[in-house]
Amino acid sequence: MIDTMTKSAELMELEEKFGAHNYHPIPVVLEKGEGVYVWDVEGKRYFDFLAAYSAVNQGHCHPRILKALTTQAQKLTLTSRAFYNSQLGEYEKFITNYFGYDKVLPMNTGVEGGETAIKLARRWAYDVKGVKENQAKVVFANGNFWGRTLAAISASNDPSSYKGFGPYMTGYQLVDYNDLQALENAIKDPNTAAFMVEPIQGEAGVVVPDEGYLKGVRALCTKYNVLFIADEVQTGLARTGKMLACDHENVKPDILVLGKALSGGILPVSAVLASNEIMLTIKPGEHGSTYGGNPLACAVAMEALKVLKDEKLAENSEKLGIIFREEMNKLKAETDLITSVRGRGLFNAIVIKEKDGKTAWEVCLKFAEAGLLAKPTHGDIIRFAPPLVITKEQLMECVAIIRKVILNF
Ligand SMILES: Cc1ncc(COP(=O)(O)O)c(C=O)c1O
Repeated sequence: MIDTMTKSAELMELEEKFGAHNYHPIPVVLEKGEGVYVWDVEGKRYFDFLAAYSAVNQGHCHPRILKALTTQAQKLTLTSRAFYNSQLGEYEKFITNYFGYDKVLPMNTGVEGGETAIKLARRWAYDVKGVKENQAKVVFANGNFWGRTLAAISASNDPSSYKGFGPYMTGYQLVDYNDLQALENAIKDPNTAAFMVEPIQGEAGVVVPDEGYLKGVRALCTKYNVLFIADEVQTGLARTGKMLACDHENVKPDILVLGKALSGGILPVSAVLASNEIMLTIKPGEHGSTYGGNPLACAVAMEALKVLKDEKLAENSEKLGIIFREEMNKLKAETDLITSVRGRGLFNAIVIKEKDGKTAWEVCLKFAEAGLLAKPTHGDIIRFAPPLVITKEQLMECVAIIRKVILNF
């Protein structure tokens, strides 16, 4: 691909030469996006089946979100929290009503949302639960991914995340995902502040727990007076066919972490939602961020959330997700290359039978050639997560591309 794409090759070389080598992208250089489509610098159009790791649920460059951005950008973008701003209160009222929580703490990236949730849980453990100073424990599930800070990688059991970056954060414990007995054994320790978990594990490869797991997590956390933190940074905001993945089991986490699609892919916006009891343990001067709660982010996030409901994107995700998995299961029956199909809503993955650790990568290169962008995770898993504005016709066009590439591979 590289030698036929002169402009692309040039731009990739710049990144190679002047950028840190902390990513290994599919070799396409994108310059434009609209809805489910992106275009490279040579003008070739692709279906985006990653949607920036589910940050672009509302579709690329959504006109309503862009309008909110440009209107607010011409008025006021950043004040810091040293002063009040005219958007923040309105946004806080809007998002707490939207998700049914007392309070929100606005941050920027998903990982900051996770850090904030853990700080809140620790503080709540000391001030409310009565855990002795510096004894609070936070439990995570094996396979978790919530970002790249030292606090986040300390929770990881994936060596490519944590290896070579020690020493690590203490006060953490890992248990198997989808294992309620292991969770109970861990959280009955009275020093436990919280269990932080993704309702479906995204980076681990769209790992869907058994029906009843989330209800079980909720019940155990309540029983042992432990906070249930749901990391819905990737699964939230209509991706899995409901507004939140926790809604599939009608459970309400004590702390909800959102990010990514909270801005529809326009700028980094994350949010942590909780009750007064939890949120008011943190006092002025004890936590914050220069950009957190900036008026531009507030205006954009409100519009991004309105678009999700107005365009019924959860419903579309639910409906098309069923069709997509049906089609992938049909394809699986026709080839040995796919060993498993899983997912919820338009958050899906296929597992590729690996020959040399490069098969899934090579399949993704073929997808790109055929006009569809996806990326492997953990070597053998290909995630399919298009913008949720995709229509049935577009989805079937993508199914045809996936079929053709897989059957010809
Ligand atoms: C579940 C989950 N939490 C947190 C994060 C971190 O988000 P960010 O990259 O915006 O820091 C990610 C990123 O992929 C994620 O998938």
